Amino acid sequence: MMRESGTFGWSNPIVRRSVVGLVLLALGSALVGFIWLPSAQADFSAQGLWASICRAAGVPTNWNNDSAAKARPTATNVVLDRSMTREGSNDAVGRGATLALNCTMCHGAQGASKSDAPNLAGQYPEVVIKQLKDYQSGKRGSPIMEALAKRLSEKDINDLAAYYAYLPKARTAPTTYDESLPALVRVGAPLRNIAPCVSCHGGIDQKLGAPWIEGMPKEYLVQQLKAFRSGERRNDSQAQMRSIAIPMTDAEIEEVAVFYARKSSTGGEN
Ligand code: HEC
Ligand code: HEC
Repeated sequence: MMRESGTFGWSNPIVRRSVVGLVLLALGSALVGFIWLPSAQADFSAQGLWASICRAAGVPTNWNNDSAAKARPTATNVVLDRSMTREGSNDAVGRGATLALNCTMCHGAQGASKSDAPNLAGQYPEVVIKQLKDYQSGKRGSPIMEALAKRLSEKDINDLAAYYAYLPKARTAPTTYDESLPALVRVGAPLRNIAPCVSCHGGIDQKLGAPWIEGMPKEYLVQQLKAFRSGERRNDSQAQMRSIAIPMTDAEIEEVAVFYARKSSTGGEN
């Protein structure tokens, strides 16, 4: 204080005025940034302080959905709900089986693909419903599946899901939590924010909407993980899978894909 009192201290009116001015400016911009600007923008919805700070700092709402964000403001239109997991009636399964005749060419006669298309046998019904609706709305891109899904009614989708859920999970035993699993599957990589696969895909927990991936064709698993990583596939709500895949290296993708594509010895060969 003493040393500064001559030219730069608090007693100097210029210093005093500029400090007071700075405080007022900060208060003023906080008011504008946190209260006036957000409320003046039509699409603002109160999402908590953090969202307001990001917003005030100019971060777009969909900051992790780069350029396509405008065209596709949400990851998916489907709201998952427990009722989608209900077992289908015999009628639904029967009708689904008939509709599924159009799908065998790629997904296999019993829903277990011989090509690189995903297996559908034993898939959780809410997964089949969500994915078909995402193809229908274009939230998940695939020229083949988008065209096919657009022809399906709501009832068709439910019945197909009931049918595939009814088929036995053909080829591979579920993952159980044990020491021989690849590290990413069992414990993830906490330093890179990668949650363990078993915490969503079965083993520890199966999250609603997380697909059964055991026994899927390896190429399909690699392709989907890379598509999540590049953002080409972005229909996972809240970027659950994108945030897992983005920090993964090619070698890690290969490792987990080989692991999940494994066939159990008891599962037969188709
Ligand atoms: C010409 C081949 C072909 C036909 C026929 C076909 N599919 Fe597909 N299906 C694919 C491919 C390839 C994918 C993966 C596309 C991608 O990368 O998103 C796929 C993906 C899917 C998925 C997503 C699975 C997952 O695990 O995410 C579902 C569900 C599905 N198909 C259902 C059906 C149904 C139901 C039919 C019949 C009405 C059908 N498909 C007919 C090739 C086909
Ligand atoms: C936080 C939960 C969560 C974790 C952890 C997680 N996943 Fe997923 N995963 C999901 C969900 C949810 C989906 C379905 C996304 C959607 O709705 O399209 C998914 C989809 C996938 C798909 C696409 C499957 C298909 O048939 O469409 C693959 C492959 C996959 N996950 C692999 C992995 C691997 C490998 C790991 C571990 C490295 C992992 N996931 C960790 C939640 C998770």
